[in-house]
Amino acid sequence: MPTGKEDPKDIVQRDRVFYGRRRGRRLRAGMEGLLEERLPDLAVILPDVNEPGATLDPASLFPYTIKDVWLEIGFGGGEHLAAQAAARPDVGFIGSEPFMNGVASLIRHCEDRGLSNVRIYPDDVRDLLPLLPDASLARITVLFADPWPKKRHHSRRIIQHESIAEFHRLIAPGGELRLATDDVAYLRWMLARATTHRGFRWKARGPSDWRVRPADWPETRYEAKARDQGRRPAFLRFERLETFD
Ligand SMILES: C[S@@+](CC[C@H](N)C(=O)[O-])C[C@H]1O[C@@H](n2cnc3c(N)ncnc32)[C@H](O)[C@@H]1O
Repeated sequence: MPTGKEDPKDIVQRDRVFYGRRRGRRLRAGMEGLLEERLPDLAVILPDVNEPGATLDPASLFPYTIKDVWLEIGFGGGEHLAAQAAARPDVGFIGSEPFMNGVASLIRHCEDRGLSNVRIYPDDVRDLLPLLPDASLARITVLFADPWPKKRHHSRRIIQHESIAEFHRLIAPGGELRLATDDVAYLRWMLARATTHRGFRWKARGPSDWRVRPADWPETRYEAKARDQGRRPAFLRFERLETFD
């Protein structure tokens, strides 16, 4: 668990198994330099969890007043997050991604677009979520999460009944949960979990509402690859309800 005493670029995971990659091909010197120079300013540092009542107000991560905070989990190369942040300067964006090549790529996008409303948790989001207060986010986005197709690996899927309940705790009433996948089995799994949580309402009224990517939902690299390979993505939007029985 990262604490305030660590240098963000040295954060490596500790007490939980993360099944993805943290490093890919060697970063070009320029990208490595970007990580070193910019990540310390952009990184979300977790409070010391041993302190009683340790919590992290996500709005406090931004130097000016923002309207809402949106979280993107597993942002990959960061192209979707950066495009959203450019379109919504009034919103503060937190991206979580343990794959450092992706973190460097998001920083590159932020530099190219001159964004000041993005913060990065360069690690496993499961360490961040419990520290965020109830209703402190207006949106959570999880795009093309790893489907872990083998049955014995299903417990590794990020979408579970428990994570849906945690997203419900974190998203303020009226806020939104966005999920995308190109894997039919994972689509069924997601729907079985999100639609049975009575605190979420699936916004789709007909097939085009989930088969066609909404205009305010920029394409990710993974989506482009899936289409090239003939797979058809699904785009799910759920409203976080005010009350439910
Ligand atoms: C298949 S990729 C999709 C990337 C991107 N969303 C896209 O659509 O191009 C899934 C990403 O989720 C990230 N990921 C997996 N588990 C995660 C976790 N527990 N916390 C944060 N990110 C995670 C992986 O590192 C990977 O980059």
